[in-house]
Amino acid sequence: MLKKSIYLSLTFFFIAFVSKFSSAQNDWQNNPAIEKKIDSLISLMTLKEKTELLHASSSFTSGGVKRLGIPELVMSDGPHGVRMEHGRDWEIDSTTSDSATYLPVGITLASTWNKNLGYQSGKVLGSEAADRGKDIILGPGVNIIRTPLNGRNFEYLSEDPYLAGEMAVGYIKGVESNGIGACVKHYAANNQETLRGKINVIVDERTLHEIYLPAFKHAVQDGSVLTIMTAYNKINGEYCSNNKYLFDVLHNEWGFKGTAISDWGAVHSTEPTLKHGVDIEMGTELANGTKDNPDYNGFYLAEPLIKFVKKHPRYEKYVDEKVRRILRVMFAVHKFDKKRPEGSRNTPEHHKTALKIAEEGIVLLKNDYGLPVGKKADMPENAVVKTIAVIGDNATRKHAGEGGSSQVKAEYEITPLEGIKQVFGDDYKIVYAPGYKPNKENKLDSVLMKKALNVAKHADLVIYIGGWLHNIEGEMWGKYRYDAEGHDKESYEFPFGQTELMNRLSDLKPMITVILGGSFAKTDKWLEKSGAVLFAGYPGMEGGKAIAEILAGKINPSGKLPFTIAKELKYYPAHSIGEYPGNGQNVIYRDSIWVGYRYFDKHPEKILFPFGYGLSYTTFSIDNLKLKKKVFPSGEPVKFSIDVTNTGKLEGKEVVQVYISDPVSRVVRPVKELKAFEKVNLKPGETKTVSFILDKNAFSYWDPESKKWKLEPGDFIINVGNSSQNIMQKAKITIK
Ligand code: GLC
Repeated sequence: MLKKSIYLSLTFFFIAFVSKFSSAQNDWQNNPAIEKKIDSLISLMTLKEKTELLHASSSFTSGGVKRLGIPELVMSDGPHGVRMEHGRDWEIDSTTSDSATYLPVGITLASTWNKNLGYQSGKVLGSEAADRGKDIILGPGVNIIRTPLNGRNFEYLSEDPYLAGEMAVGYIKGVESNGIGACVKHYAANNQETLRGKINVIVDERTLHEIYLPAFKHAVQDGSVLTIMTAYNKINGEYCSNNKYLFDVLHNEWGFKGTAISDWGAVHSTEPTLKHGVDIEMGTELANGTKDNPDYNGFYLAEPLIKFVKKHPRYEKYVDEKVRRILRVMFAVHKFDKKRPEGSRNTPEHHKTALKIAEEGIVLLKNDYGLPVGKKADMPENAVVKTIAVIGDNATRKHAGEGGSSQVKAEYEITPLEGIKQVFGDDYKIVYAPGYKPNKENKLDSVLMKKALNVAKHADLVIYIGGWLHNIEGEMWGKYRYDAEGHDKESYEFPFGQTELMNRLSDLKPMITVILGGSFAKTDKWLEKSGAVLFAGYPGMEGGKAIAEILAGKINPSGKLPFTIAKELKYYPAHSIGEYPGNGQNVIYRDSIWVGYRYFDKHPEKILFPFGYGLSYTTFSIDNLKLKKKVFPSGEPVKFSIDVTNTGKLEGKEVVQVYISDPVSRVVRPVKELKAFEKVNLKPGETKTVSFILDKNAFSYWDPESKKWKLEPGDFIINVGNSSQNIMQKAKITIK
């Protein structure tokens, strides 16, 4: 007994010593002291103990080894707020005070095109996760928006991998600045929720590398993300959680040193997962036995793994490698040295960040009305707005707690109606009518419509707040879902008779339309008739205030679309040249690299609002593109600058977007591809010079023959503008 206790205390002393030393070196990926410690811990562990780390020990924890002082890893959703507390066997533990900051969702964050806000969002999330005792926060979601029907688009960032990657890297750095691990998800090509658990995505390598993998690569190589979550679906015949191609790329090409976590219940094998799959199998234990594995009674990486390794001892090295990755993450999140910053929750600063993101993430799509609302100098008396009719269920609906695993118990959520009353104050008479009511029959409510039309008739201006919602009450995992996990939208038309309501309202009075949701929708006469249209995504707990501030002119809108809004659903390449949702087994990505503006640049007539588009209350010019030279040796960074001027009367922000064209190349390439952007704030009349440096990646394509990135010498065009369809400066360069 004595011998054992000396032995154990030596071990703990050793952990303490090395952790102290290792905490000084926060480069978790190449830290000899940590690696040494891990070697020693692995040498002390039995095979059974090692497998404890490789699978869940409860709803949101993975196992530890008490005997050696290795604690469990504690995880939590979600991408835009720390989810309410789940008990160890899933029930919602409502006894805890687990309200949190409900940040704007991914699509609204990406609409800011503000990398620093990506960081700020992550910083808040990581701090609140630390406060709640979590080690890993399960976000960001970076899957590419391939169809507007995908139920989880609201959680994601863009149709473009560069924008998604840039926003994700800031977010990851923000999360991990708190000593918490981020978890970039869902790796990879999880672009629909329909049959997500079994659908097999058939996609070519070049499309994977140019469209569906770059945001993950950026997260690993530039964001140093600690963990990655594999998706439910298959890619080219193999489940993501044990997909040899994905793990070769992740480990051998990108050099990922962290931990791969499966989505919950997404592991389907023992040996393939051991050899080229996730490190941690998460999700509830499946019932006894499965058709292909009758003695299965728990986790693929538990009993079946022990049996397999006992029969093939040489495979224990794969177990050790997984344990190493997990322990590396444990050191990085201070599980041993306990040196993680405290964290905080629901602070005024956190809520201010939520407001800031919402203010910059709302996109002004149309403004013939002449927003902001308010008396203008030359306005005739009868045009002065005195009574405002706020119409729409989304004016009063709260969204935080719905949508699936990304749900948040918000400390509060200011609805648009509350925001409008708060910001517009007593200067106006505000009257409200819902106009429609979400219902399972997806029916128009003629009584509500009549009432709303009557309220509008007696007002000077209608502010319509509608669009999508996550799900009907009580249907978060049921049939009646719209912007939600596990389910795609079944129609591209706004539900509950909104189109007719919007058409009639906009016929009756000047109308401002505010759309909430993870996507836009099929439009109708109301678009033409609306004096102004805004897209807000789901703007979080302060979103109602941000909407009101923009309508009242307290904030000048600066959001830009992170996805294309096409005139018709059938125009989207996933629906026109690709397949969606597939035949129940496979979905073939025949649209290949032609996703979003990469496709619509060749079909501009199909665009309603382009990628990168968003209006301001002021105007900007972008000119004076300056290059140090025009000919560059291959591999030398291309440096240039551009001047942005605020040519209007109000302070505002503009997003300078840089797209690269490769007019002559061996493979077919998109007209242009986003390779840099910067958001600048300018006072009226102010000019700023923005400098860019493009490395060789900005000009390369993924070559299907050599199976690697290739920079083909020749001429390239640098396109600079403030939307993918508004290029204001061009310059040709040659790379030798
Ligand atoms: C869900 C989601 C994933 C989430 C996990 C834990 O199925 O796909 O995004 O983090 O399970 O709730």
